[in-house]
Amino acid sequence: MTKLLSRRRFLASAMYVFVGIGILIATGLYQYFLALPYDTSYVHWGPPEPLTSLIQQLQENGIPAVKPVNEFDHKFTFTNSHKCQVKDNEVIRLVYIVKSALPNFYKRDMIRQSWGFEQRFSDVTIRTVFLVGSMPGEPHLQVRVNKENKQHKDIVQADFIDNYYNNTIKTMMGLNWAFNFCAKVKYLLFVDDDYYVSTRNILRFLRDPNNYPQYLETYVIDAVNEYQENLYAGYVFQQSYPHRWVLSKWYISLTDYPYSHYPPYVTAGAFILSQRSLQSMYYASIYTNRFRFDDIFMGMCAKKANLHPFHHAEFHFSRPLYTVEGYKYTIASHGFGDPEEMHKIWEEQRSVGNA
Ligand SMILES: *[C@@H]1O[C@H](CO)[C@@H](O)[C@H](O)[C@H]1NC(C)=O
Repeated sequence: MTKLLSRRRFLASAMYVFVGIGILIATGLYQYFLALPYDTSYVHWGPPEPLTSLIQQLQENGIPAVKPVNEFDHKFTFTNSHKCQVKDNEVIRLVYIVKSALPNFYKRDMIRQSWGFEQRFSDVTIRTVFLVGSMPGEPHLQVRVNKENKQHKDIVQADFIDNYYNNTIKTMMGLNWAFNFCAKVKYLLFVDDDYYVSTRNILRFLRDPNNYPQYLETYVIDAVNEYQENLYAGYVFQQSYPHRWVLSKWYISLTDYPYSHYPPYVTAGAFILSQRSLQSMYYASIYTNRFRFDDIFMGMCAKKANLHPFHHAEFHFSRPLYTVEGYKYTIASHGFGDPEEMHKIWEEQRSVGNA
């Protein structure tokens, strides 16, 4: 009698174990247990040769010991390569590189009429371009974009398909474009077209990233420090884990990323690079295997290039509740899918001196 009972109990628990394992496999969660340690994983994100020597070879004689593994090789439709050209010793302080989706004509217009307006300040030179891909299946969109570009001369487009999964290609296009055509500009903000941005606060932030916004209330620093030279700034995720659940939007298999966690990265919606960081990121990007999520890809490049992401809470990953006073120090905020609302809030902030 007791023998029979324990046998049954054994079978029941064995069944639980099997079902449990089955669930772990079906959901992908078992991958959490098999992930490799992160510590030195960056040597496997591309060729293991040290980046510094490859960069030196590229800069000196153009023939590196290892060929780049991830060059941007799409054909440009529009480059607007004149964008960052200036007269005499004029200096472009800031370039907005706006990641936009091809059909977002209205969003682009609202940005041109708000934070992307190039003549915003008479004494600070800023420039704005929009990065878009192509939609071969919708030729009427291309007709419209051709017209838009004729009017504004601010579209950067290449022949890859414009969709979420090709986001890293879009970011790479931006890096490639800026590296080739904007070698003299001071800072670049890569930003999505559903953002609110305060140009005034970006300029304030850039004067002293470490002490923004406190320094505004006390004293003004103008010395260039290391943070400004090697700036890669925005809303930083210090340690995040690959999603191994198969239904997650951010699911990634062990085959695509075998390590336990990601490098620190700035969320892709808005990140600032200094000129020197742009160069580092560009070289790192051509020696880093392409990764689907563009912000993590940039984090990988930064890790390789030995750039440390700089976090500031006034880059908002999720949109703070709007009040006039509450946006006083806001540098950039995600969550403005409605371009008219963004424009209205920007107007209000501009009128009180915050944008
Ligand atoms: C972009 O995305 C589409 C669809 O997801 C894919 O078929 C295509 O190969 C991707 N790459 C390029 C370069 O367009």
